[in-house]
Amino acid sequence: MSQPFYVTTPIYYVNSRPHVGHAYSTIIADVLKRYYRMAGRDVYFLTGTDEHGDKIVRASRKEGLSPKAYADTISDIFRAVWPELDILNDQFIRTTYPEHQKVVRYVLQRVYDKGDIYFSEYEGLYCFACERFYTEKELVDGKCPDHKTEPERIEESNYFLKMNKYQDWLVDHIRKNPDFIAPERYRNEMLAFLKEPLEDLCISRPKTRLEWGITLPFDDQYVAYVWFDALLNYISALRYPDGELFKRYWPVAHHIIAKDILKPHAIYWPIMLKAAGIPLYNQLKVHGYWNMDDGKMSKTTGNVVDPLHIKNLYGSDQFRYFLTREMAFGLDSHFSEPALVQRINADLANDLGNLFSRTVSMIHKYFGCVVPESVSGAETDLDLALARDAIEMVNGARREIEGFAFHKALMSIWQFINKLNKYIDTNAPWALAKEKGGRSRLQTVIYNCMEGLRIVCGMISPFMPKASQRMRRYFGLAPDQAFSFSEISEWGGLKPGVVVPKAIALFPRVELEKETEDISSGKTKERSLPRKKEIELEDFQALDLRVGSVLEAEPVPNSSNLLKLKCDIGEERRIVAGIGASYAPSDLIGKKVIVLANLKPAKLMGVLSEGMMLAATDKKRCFVPFIEGDVRPGTKIC
Ligand code: MSP
Repeated sequence: MSQPFYVTTPIYYVNSRPHVGHAYSTIIADVLKRYYRMAGRDVYFLTGTDEHGDKIVRASRKEGLSPKAYADTISDIFRAVWPELDILNDQFIRTTYPEHQKVVRYVLQRVYDKGDIYFSEYEGLYCFACERFYTEKELVDGKCPDHKTEPERIEESNYFLKMNKYQDWLVDHIRKNPDFIAPERYRNEMLAFLKEPLEDLCISRPKTRLEWGITLPFDDQYVAYVWFDALLNYISALRYPDGELFKRYWPVAHHIIAKDILKPHAIYWPIMLKAAGIPLYNQLKVHGYWNMDDGKMSKTTGNVVDPLHIKNLYGSDQFRYFLTREMAFGLDSHFSEPALVQRINADLANDLGNLFSRTVSMIHKYFGCVVPESVSGAETDLDLALARDAIEMVNGARREIEGFAFHKALMSIWQFINKLNKYIDTNAPWALAKEKGGRSRLQTVIYNCMEGLRIVCGMISPFMPKASQRMRRYFGLAPDQAFSFSEISEWGGLKPGVVVPKAIALFPRVELEKETEDISSGKTKERSLPRKKEIELEDFQALDLRVGSVLEAEPVPNSSNLLKLKCDIGEERRIVAGIGASYAPSDLIGKKVIVLANLKPAKLMGVLSEGMMLAATDKKRCFVPFIEGDVRPGTKIC
């Protein structure tokens, strides 16, 4: 049986919608899933949502919903966004699932029975946003370092986990296992932190203050601290203690997180596991922050970018490529739309897209759409070097991916793409085609280009699965199958004789709209939208635009952005609109909107839409123009 590999992302709080930061961790986990699957390993990939605690209660109140109803809504949004980014998680866990809660109570009882949990009076400084006590030393100018607010002094009796008891053991474990926390800077940070005595961890909250949590098995007046609850998702999802999944995957667990939650993962979690008599996870991989012009992208500052919106504008592959190419894992990076557009145009459209389309076009032009055979005796040193470079690239990029240097892996794939482009320029197939006796050399050159592209196609597949899939049939491969490394670790695997379809634009060039708005800051810049072709008045008159009154609105199940509307446009129509990220159903009911009534009906996420509601859209959200005044539904707009 193939070797297992277990990869997890943090489970995301449901007090806000997914943003680029969440997308990055989840895409990295997906790249690993796809990569190790190509290497023949049996990979299990877990993500999910963290749903208990005070901040969820407060967020739900704002929306006028119960914590559970609110958690259901946001959790569904997270669950629905991942397939849009081609994420292949094997499970989506929620901390409100009864199976998870059972495991939390089981572990709490075990640790309690062992004597590592005690009850005590406590007075301390509490940050409600972080849901934790702070020591004076941890505060910056007396304020919470994350929320910049002054914590409140509270006094209450609680349950505590003995952390100090395990401190020396933990230091020893981190020292003896250099890869336990990586990159090294985070390992060093934790070792430095552990030089000071560890305070015991408060693992309960009295129900008088917070009810939304998992009741302690040994005191029903308390719920578990949200971190004690959340961290256990990594094993409850595997059906700890007896599940087959647990036995198979837990010994090879790799947690991906950002540096904001290093301490709970590097300190609380190993101690919780040790106290409960559970073996430790294998490795913690810590990445940096995606920052915007005004600091870390976070829901607290509100400067977040919606991944779905970026995907809809530029494509999932393009977004995945940008995130993995731009960030050096472990360090912070800057998210900017011009940088994304630059990468799409330079790396994807120019370097790879052009290489692909010119190679395919030459097969059409010179070989009647059929991949030619490389002619023995017609090779030169250039060909041998190209073959050697390809295999070196595969091996080098694999080492980089396994070392989490995703950006370096992509750099080496692109160096090879550029070598292929140069190889074409140097060999000038267009001249060979005209040269007398140039045919065998032409065949060899074109075969080599296509073989190089086949290897590139395999190597990009963990990062850009869609493009890789679209390319596969050009090599005579089934589009719905995944590559395996055995297929691309040797030169010459391409079968001559494959009939090649017409070239497609793999990555269309993107004109950066000199947008009104800088995605990060909302600042206004000059705008120059490309002009569309002029139309005649009759073209416009062909549109049946009408006033529609929204009678009903509700989210489309499993979609993070679609709303299903019932509109009166003189007759009743069902309209599906992609505005759910910007409007709640209640914002629309009773409003009058503009409807294009004669658009051909189409199904969106399985729901038939019989028209289109008009809205303005920019990089961040949609704006629906509402019609004021006493105008009758169905009134013509011209
Ligand atoms: N619920 C806890 C995690 C519990 S895990 C047992 C939590 N949730 S969170 O919604 O705040 O997500 C934090 C994680 O989201 C980060 O660790 C990281 O994976 C991702 N990111 C959130 N903002 C980010 C950036 N600005 N940049 C990069 N990643 C970020 O903490």
